[in-house]
Amino acid sequence: MKHYMTVARDAAQSAGKLLKENIHGPREISHKGDINLVTEMDLRSERVIVETVLAAFPDHGIIAEEGTDIRNGSGFIWIIDPLDGTTNYAHGYPCFSVSIALEQEGEVVLGVVYDPMRDELFSAMKGQGAFLNERPIRVSGTDRLIKSLLATGFPYDRAVSEKNNMDYFHGLLMASQEVRRDGSAALDLCSVACGRFDGFWELKLKPWDVAAGSLIVREAGGAVSDFSGAKFTIHDAEVLASNGRIHEQMLDILRKAGRTEQKT
Ligand code: IPD
Ligand code: CA
Ligand code: CA
Repeated sequence: MKHYMTVARDAAQSAGKLLKENIHGPREISHKGDINLVTEMDLRSERVIVETVLAAFPDHGIIAEEGTDIRNGSGFIWIIDPLDGTTNYAHGYPCFSVSIALEQEGEVVLGVVYDPMRDELFSAMKGQGAFLNERPIRVSGTDRLIKSLLATGFPYDRAVSEKNNMDYFHGLLMASQEVRRDGSAALDLCSVACGRFDGFWELKLKPWDVAAGSLIVREAGGAVSDFSGAKFTIHDAEVLASNGRIHEQMLDILRKAGRTEQKT
């Protein structure tokens, strides 16, 4: 497992370096939807990570956001977001990350999230704790929602879908100390893991947004579930992550708001 971690770290740091060097450079931007961007840097970052992983493990599978899809029955699948926070990146707002997870027989066993602007590498292996660079990290000790700093995000289809987080957002904004919208779900999860945020929720995320970060939260002593409190899997559309102590209080608000938040 240690060898997998070395490769994951190398891949995340090489891709992160490339992203950081080019953040203010001119670049091609295309659109997946009206507000969902993809830059040439998402693609270049993915190439670096995929090459690094395949050079070390040529028989492993890979699923990455920008199109790499190799499933070969090896039992190992790398789940990759080569640039989480593309909108921030395209505006030169320095909050984005590279997220790499390894799934073994359907279970996430390793996660790495790298923030190249702060040179912060979050990592975890199942059962072995979570780390920021080499230092062990823990979730916060806050036990009252009203004292909690939370984070969330809003789905790209918010203008055309009524299930757009507005009711959940209203409920939790009123019940907490503050809510941030930072723009990188993988980093939001890591901020819960290291105690900067006390909780995070979002809907309509994809496996590559949450695979690494959700393991890191759990390994840092936090709780991860869906909005009903049921066990979270990376294929779920909803994620609630917290320090554990405020989890029930957040669930309470999400359940109430869920009655008016639309279903589609
Ligand atoms: C997005 C970011 C953002 C979240 C979006 C994601 P991308 O990922 O994680 O914080 O709100 O839902 O899709 O598109 O920048 O990789
Ligand atoms: Ca993403
Ligand atoms: Ca992305």
